[in-house]
Amino acid sequence: MNCLQKSATKTYAAVRAAQLAGKSIGLVPTMGALHEGHLSLVEASLAECDHTVVSIFVNPTQFGPSEDLASYPHVLEQDLRLLEERGCWLVFAPQADEMYQPGHGTYVDVGSVAVPYEGASRPTHFRGVATVVLKLFQIIPADRAYFGRKDYQQTLVIRKMVSDLNLPVEVRVCPIIREADGLAMSSRNAYLNAEERQRASLLWQSLKLAEQMHAKGQTEVAVIARSMRELLATDELEAEYIAFLAEDTVQEVTHLEGPTVVALAAQVGKTRLIDNHTIG
Ligand code: PAF
Repeated sequence: MNCLQKSATKTYAAVRAAQLAGKSIGLVPTMGALHEGHLSLVEASLAECDHTVVSIFVNPTQFGPSEDLASYPHVLEQDLRLLEERGCWLVFAPQADEMYQPGHGTYVDVGSVAVPYEGASRPTHFRGVATVVLKLFQIIPADRAYFGRKDYQQTLVIRKMVSDLNLPVEVRVCPIIREADGLAMSSRNAYLNAEERQRASLLWQSLKLAEQMHAKGQTEVAVIARSMRELLATDELEAEYIAFLAEDTVQEVTHLEGPTVVALAAQVGKTRLIDNHTIG
């Protein structure tokens, strides 16, 4: 496919030349194994920008030592075909040594927003995400960058980095895309066997339960969280955390008043899944 580029220098040159010719650039950073969630980000960029660049890079620095870096799905040919069909302008798919030279030692730490929840479970994860996203913004100095709402805390980390470092890019956060039974689309869903895949839909059911309880007048977070845990337990799922967060923050609330993000993580078999839903 002719829009594939592996060189950071050539990618930067192509993007700058297009910008100097008056074209706006949208960037969709991904780790590949594209699904409808990624493609919705691509569609959003295609609608708003003259040229859409998708990066495909399984970033080693955001994986912990016991995580799934080695087994993370790589399906570059299939991804390229999907992107070409959509009309993507350039796909940046570097080798690891193009992104991290031997002796790489500079990392981005965004502070407290990266500490709880996903940060507590995966202590070096957000440092790796912020570092690679900043590097991608350097290589592809896009006008807009598109991220999925499923990784709620990641979107806060990226917004914080963009604001703290005065990065000249507009961050767009797009809605979660779900399977017919509500499971949030994720490349990691591919790890689930048939029985796990069925149980995984309970994550969404528990988030819907929170919404329904709130709609019926329940405002006590502890009561809603207990019911969510009970529902998950009906199929032997245990949430690692269920957090009720004031919209656009990682501040926990105990009583529902304004818009609240209910975020959770749970292990389904060997696969750790996250999801969230805004209620109120
Ligand atoms: O959300 C992801 O797929 C990754 O964390 C990202 C933003 C592409 C950085 O590697």
